[in-house]
Amino acid sequence: MKVFVTRKIPESGINLLKNYHTVTVSEKDRVLSKDEIIDQAQDAEGLLCLLTDTIDSEVISSLPNLKMIANYAVGFNNVDVETATQKKIPVSNTPGVLTDTTAELAWALVFSVARRIVESDSFCRDGKFEGWAPMLMLGQDITKKTLGIIGSGRIGTAMALKSKGFDMNVLYVNPEHNSVLESEINAKKTDLSTLLMKSDIVTLHVPLTDETHHLIGEKELDLMKETAVLINTSRGPVIDENALLNALENKQIFGAGLDVYEHEPKIPKKLKQLDNVVILPHIGSATKETRSKMAEMAAENMLQGLNGKQPSNCVNPEVFE
Ligand code: DGY
Repeated sequence: MKVFVTRKIPESGINLLKNYHTVTVSEKDRVLSKDEIIDQAQDAEGLLCLLTDTIDSEVISSLPNLKMIANYAVGFNNVDVETATQKKIPVSNTPGVLTDTTAELAWALVFSVARRIVESDSFCRDGKFEGWAPMLMLGQDITKKTLGIIGSGRIGTAMALKSKGFDMNVLYVNPEHNSVLESEINAKKTDLSTLLMKSDIVTLHVPLTDETHHLIGEKELDLMKETAVLINTSRGPVIDENALLNALENKQIFGAGLDVYEHEPKIPKKLKQLDNVVILPHIGSATKETRSKMAEMAAENMLQGLNGKQPSNCVNPEVFE
């Protein structure tokens, strides 16, 4: 069968697919438009796509042979799963393999913001360092502080467990109790307002859905401590970016660490001008090992789906009922 891959991904995944199918990888090292995907995947049975691709009902309906969609990401808000399900097309994602990698990046952001690492680095490079000074680059401590986890799925849980060495109080917001967090680090389940009021670090680990869109807006930012740090490695639209900009400009919170943006890849000019925010280019899962594992996982799911089997990481298993 024919598989179209919308952008170059690590070879290990492509090679797996090539053992069984005819694989075409987009030659353009950029995000393809919907029309380009429709055109280039026209006769494909398999579509291996990225979180930057819009796979909506128009795209799905315009690919007559489509039998399987493998998304190269754990988040799959870029795929219209409802339409795929109606058309009996399985959709898969890549959970698990990027959990620690993304949690590590979230911690990197915590330290970067709390200890003003990026600002301090620029300060040195700009030749401004004239010696130790008692009031230079004062940040926030982490040890024994309160960590607020919003969304205690795989990545939120890993983020929380990695706080062990810092002896933190952990609060979390999640629809269900998380027995691992409660037994291992005595984390307490709470409501969003309490978490925002009590936490020194607030970190977002929810998928983007209608319910989580603008989960953090003006009202929520108002509840946060003036010394608090907000981290987002999930999806940009979970935060109302204008509200965050105002909060950062007015020093209503200490700072923010962002890997994702509301209108990605656009980053507001004003955000780039602020010192109290660290901005990264959506690199949560960006390590060589993890990206290779993601490629292999997406390929394995694709092979299973094209074989008529339920992919191991199928997000719409109802297709097989
Ligand atoms: C994902 O897999 O959803 C991540 O955002 C990729 O970095």
